[in-house]
Amino acid sequence: MLSVAGIEKSFGGVRALSGASLECAPAEIVGLIGPNGAGKSTLVNVVTGFLKPDAGSISLGGQSIAGLGPQRISHAGIARTFQNLRVFRELSVRQNIEVAYVRCRQLRPQKAATVDVNGLLRDFGLTELADAPAGSLPYGTQRWMEIARALAAAPDILMLDEPAAGLNDEETDRLGQAIVGIRDRTKAGIIVIDHDLRFINNICSRLFVLDQGSLIASGEPGTVWADPKVIEVYVGPGATPSGDMSGTRH
Ligand SMILES: Nc1ncnc2c1ncn2[C@@H]1O[C@H](COP(=O)(O)OP(=O)(O)O)[C@@H](O)[C@H]1O
Ligand SMILES: [Mg+2]
Repeated sequence: MLSVAGIEKSFGGVRALSGASLECAPAEIVGLIGPNGAGKSTLVNVVTGFLKPDAGSISLGGQSIAGLGPQRISHAGIARTFQNLRVFRELSVRQNIEVAYVRCRQLRPQKAATVDVNGLLRDFGLTELADAPAGSLPYGTQRWMEIARALAAAPDILMLDEPAAGLNDEETDRLGQAIVGIRDRTKAGIIVIDHDLRFINNICSRLFVLDQGSLIASGEPGTVWADPKVIEVYVGPGATPSGDMSGTRH
């Protein structure tokens, strides 16, 4: 179980997070949503140790992990992808995945035994592309590779920051099925950030809504979408949400 509560984070005068919270149980898929600038990526960066929180608690399986660096948090069992891709462009697809796998074997050997690099390549349609330099692949394929690489770390919690960005409807549906399949196979808890609300509503059993750095609603999608605070943030008072929403704040 990942429990994140009361996170505060400022960049100079910018208060990116003020009371952000999030929870994810094993084998649960949760959505982290909110308009552009709400603090979603900052929250992922704080949870994964790329940024240190100014205040708040983060625990995984009952152990506090707040303030640890990215390596230690990855050893603790949280893996992620980035809103802006971070792939080793000159390395092959297989090498990109193996880098994560080798680290996992060193640091989480029991967990690493559950990882099958060839199986990951196959599951993500990358077998034929395994020897191609990652930087030569189309953007959508690099996104798939990034998820496969995160899974090579055998995470207990997987955080995906806008995995469907730039994908067409068919690719997005395939991604949704893949995420559900990953959850079924690995029993990892998966946290998905995205603006495509059809995608989010299809796969998530629980939503957390951030606005201006604070959690404004959480719960089952039906409850969250009926919440006037959420409707107001997304489409203004009195309206009904539908389709792709980057939010009304920007
Ligand atoms: N490294 C940074 N330095 C300064 N401000 C930042 C930095 N990262 C994010 N911010 C600011 O924090 C707020 C939240 O950003 P972000 O977490 O990227 O939002 P989201 O992912 O929800 O779109 C924004 O106002 C953004 O400009
Ligand atoms: Mg973001």
